[in-house]
Amino acid sequence: MAGRIPQQFLDDLLDRIDIVEVIDRRVKLKKTGKNYSARCPFHEEKTPSFTVNPDKQFYYCFGCGAGGNALGFVMDYENIDFPRAVDVLAGSLGLEVPREQSGPGAPPPRREEAYKPLYAILEEAATFYRRQLREHAGAPRAVDYLKSRGLTGEIAKQFDLGFAPPGWDNLLQALGGDERQRKLLLDAGLLVENDAGRTYDRFRDRVIFPIRDQRGRIIAFGGRVLGDDKPKYLNSPETPVFAKGRELYGLYQARQANRRLERVVVVEGYMDVIALAQHGITCATATLGTATSPIHLERLFRQTSEVVFCFDGDDAGRKAALRALESTLPSMQDGRQARFLFLPEGEDPDTLVREQGPEHFQQLMREAAPLERFLFEAAGEGLDTATMEGRARLSKQALPYLRQLPDGVFRQLMFRALAERTGLSVAELMQIETPPLRRPPEPAPERPDSPAPPVAGPAATDRAAHPRQRHASQAARLGHSNLTQSAIALLLHRPDIARLADPGPLEHFEGEDISLLRELLQLLQRRPESNTAMLLGHWYGTPQGELLNRLAGLERLIPHEGIEQQFLDTMAALEQLPERSKLRDQVDKLRTTNYAELSDADKQRIRELIRHKQRLDEARKKGR
Ligand code: UTP
Ligand code: MN
Repeated sequence: MAGRIPQQFLDDLLDRIDIVEVIDRRVKLKKTGKNYSARCPFHEEKTPSFTVNPDKQFYYCFGCGAGGNALGFVMDYENIDFPRAVDVLAGSLGLEVPREQSGPGAPPPRREEAYKPLYAILEEAATFYRRQLREHAGAPRAVDYLKSRGLTGEIAKQFDLGFAPPGWDNLLQALGGDERQRKLLLDAGLLVENDAGRTYDRFRDRVIFPIRDQRGRIIAFGGRVLGDDKPKYLNSPETPVFAKGRELYGLYQARQANRRLERVVVVEGYMDVIALAQHGITCATATLGTATSPIHLERLFRQTSEVVFCFDGDDAGRKAALRALESTLPSMQDGRQARFLFLPEGEDPDTLVREQGPEHFQQLMREAAPLERFLFEAAGEGLDTATMEGRARLSKQALPYLRQLPDGVFRQLMFRALAERTGLSVAELMQIETPPLRRPPEPAPERPDSPAPPVAGPAATDRAAHPRQRHASQAARLGHSNLTQSAIALLLHRPDIARLADPGPLEHFEGEDISLLRELLQLLQRRPESNTAMLLGHWYGTPQGELLNRLAGLERLIPHEGIEQQFLDTMAALEQLPERSKLRDQVDKLRTTNYAELSDADKQRIRELIRHKQRLDEARKKGR
């Protein structure tokens, strides 16, 4: 096999070619200010939202979120793989592409290559489960179960349903031939390791739902018991190729089934997606046991202009809808539409479509409340807007939501609608100060990802964190997220400022965004000459790459001057976060106890804490 293309060559190549020329040769560009624009070649649109930035040598589409450097463009536009694209661009400059010798001293492979074995083993596992559904002696039980839920063989095939037979080591025996394979199975989340270091199959005696990413690669699995045992569903843990907060079950199949997705309906469960598809509603997708995140929404709106959320009519359903609303607001650019559908109590899309048929369900989708109606209903719940007091409360409660909307006509209309409802003018509304939206904590369902095996099996506990813990740490990360993304955006805009920061203090932070920031800083300190296009190239084709593209496209986050100071302030605020939140927790805890009951030592400690917190707050204020 040909060796790796040296990084130095890639960097030189990106340095020498001009992305404007590369793209203009394929899609006619028009100069608009300092950038160039065109109608996006990657999605259908009437007005151009595809932009090419000659300074930073990258492109970005505000409509569909596609973005990257010249190499990425050629790959996506011509539908060729990375080495081919390098050949094409090098060829246009008359350059020969050098190859490195592979061997023990060779540098580590690029990220997407590093994950290849993981994708391969996941694919093999899917094939294994699918075969078991046809061939295993116990399979008729699973087939009967699927039939009892109204599924045809055809739909089972379309969603690649499989069967994990009963027993502790079916998959392990079939695919875990050597140490390397076993390690891969473990990394892919298919095996569980107990404290004694023994491994066993994660999925046992379950119907298997393979989860595919946007490109159709298998990245994880869900498994359902055949009866009423608990837990009902088991999912793969997070792995390097699977992040629950980003992926949507069924989106790949929906795209396969529709040339254009006019709308996408977001439901709760695997079976809802499949049952709807079976009844001809092929645009359904489900989050994977988590709340809908802003990343989900961005992803969805790249495929469609209308998202319909489907919720249970109960209390939990309304709470989930509120969270979805909050995740949706920042994505509500003009031309996008979101609706909220509440189902009758006790029904889910699966039962409903089977009992009432697809026309009825289509009808419900058409009648679902548009975002604006749901927002004002939710913000005005329990308020009497006939009174002045009620209208004042409504403005206070609705404004934090409206302020999440991106600039545009829709945002203006929403402000006007609130003005009408409250009797205030838009200008007056603008003056009202409101606290930022506080996300309600995600309800922590009692859903262990894997049960402790019975005494007969190898005693073990799962390595995957319990969902409750995972939600807690996610919430703790929310504070980081804005700061982190803003630091990344600044770095993409001006890679040279990396020299001002020290990645060291970020070592102890958890979270995907922050590890990306850390890696970005480390890379830039190793290769200070990297430009934006090289950075995007480094992460091309990975989930991190998508985030980088998006952030690189957000030029309005970048101040006209004082970039270095803003970067320093952002990094400083970021580094102080863990200490600040620890302090806040301690102070909160002490507040809830009765001061008189405290020991002298505790009182002393409180005084110290409060002083310390004041000092930190002051330092932060000055830092701005
Ligand atoms: P529901 O409990 O609403 O079940 O879970 P459902 O989809 O209607 O299941 P059926 O119809 O009984 O088969 C909705 C989703 O929540 C996640 C799964 O993704 C499921 O599809 N879930 C549910 C879990 O991850 N674990 C569980 O134990 C239950
Ligand atoms: Mn159901």
